Amino acid sequence: MLILDGKIASAAVKATLLEQTQALKAAGKRTPHLAAILVGSNGASETYVASKVKNCEETGFGSSLYRFDTEVEEVVLLAKIAELNQDPNCDGILVQLPLPKHIKESKVIEAINPAKDVDGFHPVNVGRLVQGLNTFIPATPYGIILMLEHFNIETKGKNAVVIGRSNIVGRPMSILLSSNIAQGNCTVTICHSHTKNLKEVCLGADIIVAALGVPNFLTGEMIKPGAVIIDVGITRVEDATAKKGFRIKGDVNYEEACAKASAITPVPGGVGLMTIAGLLKNTMKAYQGL
Ligand code: GUN
Repeated sequence: MLILDGKIASAAVKATLLEQTQALKAAGKRTPHLAAILVGSNGASETYVASKVKNCEETGFGSSLYRFDTEVEEVVLLAKIAELNQDPNCDGILVQLPLPKHIKESKVIEAINPAKDVDGFHPVNVGRLVQGLNTFIPATPYGIILMLEHFNIETKGKNAVVIGRSNIVGRPMSILLSSNIAQGNCTVTICHSHTKNLKEVCLGADIIVAALGVPNFLTGEMIKPGAVIIDVGITRVEDATAKKGFRIKGDVNYEEACAKASAITPVPGGVGLMTIAGLLKNTMKAYQGL
């Protein structure tokens, strides 16, 4: 069984990006710059944004982190986005989700200039993705595609099942896997909380992407022998024996899945690292111009 190691695949992506930024610096040019907006102090969001900023540094990108209190008014965020939209030294804008309830996420996302929308969440970019046009692919599905590419996983003609229909992962993942691209051309089923006979649907899958956020949801009996398992889950589960008081759990029962799968992503160390690789590639693309 093949472990789809995110450390290896993301290091390859980052090495190429570092070469590009070093060449830019050698030519006396500025390098790509990512602006991240973080609202409140959600522990997981803090960790993700800190990791995104750190990875920018490691790859020779510039980055700025703008922090706002949980109570920040929507207009204040919109003003910051308007400022960044105009800033010629800012290539990519990322607003870490989720946002507090009093802020309308769709309004914030739609305020970002689509040419700087490195998360690929703006409706213009989602529309471009659906139509197979050049766009920013949301970072997690993009990272999964990069992972499949790195490990030469054949997808053409395969049955893929995506569990979860979020705008961030499930929906764009299902579009990509069905698209006419190298890591696409699958027959895709997208499953959600109303899906009937989920076990039977999963047993027909050659590739399963579990992106519902329920730890250990996908068990061995739901997996066809030889299937490729992509685990997007990153739920914090309390664990008094762990240093931080919690452990990160995937959506897949890893031990059971290992007994059935031909390839699997670990958690942590799998898709999470690829999300960052996808984001960095999008930021370079924003710098170069869509
Ligand atoms: N929250 C969870 N995943 C993501 C992501 O990929 N981008 C942003 N901006 N927020 C997230």
